[in-house]
Amino acid sequence: MNFNIALVKGDGIGPEIVGSAVRVLDEIASKYGHSFSYNEYLAGGAAIDETGVPLPDETREGCLASDSVLFGAVGGPKWDHLGGDERPEKALLKLRASMELFTNLRPARIYDALKADSPLRADIVDEGFDIMIVRELTGGIYFGERGRRDGDKGPEAYDTESYSVMEIERIAHVAFQTAMKRRKKLTSVDKANVLETSRLWRETVHRIGEQYPEVELSDMLVDNAAMQLVRNPSQFDVIVTSNMFGDILSDEASQITGSIGLLASSSLGEGTRGLYEPIHGSAPDIAGTGKANPIATILSAAMMLRYSFGLEREADSIEAAVEKALCEGHRTGDIAGEGDRILSCDEMTDVIIGYLR
Ligand code: IPM
Ligand code: MG
Repeated sequence: MNFNIALVKGDGIGPEIVGSAVRVLDEIASKYGHSFSYNEYLAGGAAIDETGVPLPDETREGCLASDSVLFGAVGGPKWDHLGGDERPEKALLKLRASMELFTNLRPARIYDALKADSPLRADIVDEGFDIMIVRELTGGIYFGERGRRDGDKGPEAYDTESYSVMEIERIAHVAFQTAMKRRKKLTSVDKANVLETSRLWRETVHRIGEQYPEVELSDMLVDNAAMQLVRNPSQFDVIVTSNMFGDILSDEASQITGSIGLLASSSLGEGTRGLYEPIHGSAPDIAGTGKANPIATILSAAMMLRYSFGLEREADSIEAAVEKALCEGHRTGDIAGEGDRILSCDEMTDVIIGYLR
């Protein structure tokens, strides 16, 4: 099959890790007889330097015209002085909004080979965990009204969280359907003891839950969820939550797997066109040094094959190759233990491609 993939490498380690994922995709194409064509677009700091804006129209239109988008990372100290709408991160937020990607899937599982890398106590990781975080991605406080104003106590700033019933319903359906394909356990995370949006969230998720009687639904307050993730992560199957809570909890979930360098994500809307990106950032401190771990981006490409292109077998083979590389002791710096030989981004990619062959 032919697919047209938009590549948005972005800043920092973005070009290196997207380059690795493309090499893996090319291997899949030749092994399974597909053809992937790529168009590259600028976003983030790279786009600001070149065009003056974080998300040029050409990038938005190119992504909308593609079958799917593979995204690296955006941002860096060079652009930290810029204000809200001019920042590199705005590229990602705008792209998610214009592509209407309201569902963000962030899987966090512990590999047996990496149990020693988890910061959690051995008796906790020994239980294992395999969590799917379903994060609402185009609503809530990241997209609400914001600004500066003069208040009673002087100058102040505000951001607003709002959720419509429709926005909660559609993400709830995705979460229940995701749970149905897994262990049929859904934890809805909110802050209903304080926030009105959370009370609407809770009531709506429960109403939608009536359509999925096989799924065991429970609620958890976000502060408790943050604690439970490190206390007993094996209790979770699927977690559904709002944009900001999902942003925070997914970083936490990634770190307990051993490294944020391992976590992939997919962002989808109603159709099959999605945006796939590692959940980590642009890591400007190691950009250009070859130290980046390409695994999160390679696994994001696997998610693209599975969710956007329906290529299950191909996605499985990438995931198996990554697992094999980790099992056989191949390590980039972020997951290396004492005495391990540290592979560069390219070398780790070579190893994974070797296992694909
Ligand atoms: C993420 C990132 C983004 C987000 C930033 C870069 C806008 O942290 O994908 O988790 O907050 O969604
Ligand atoms: Mg984040």
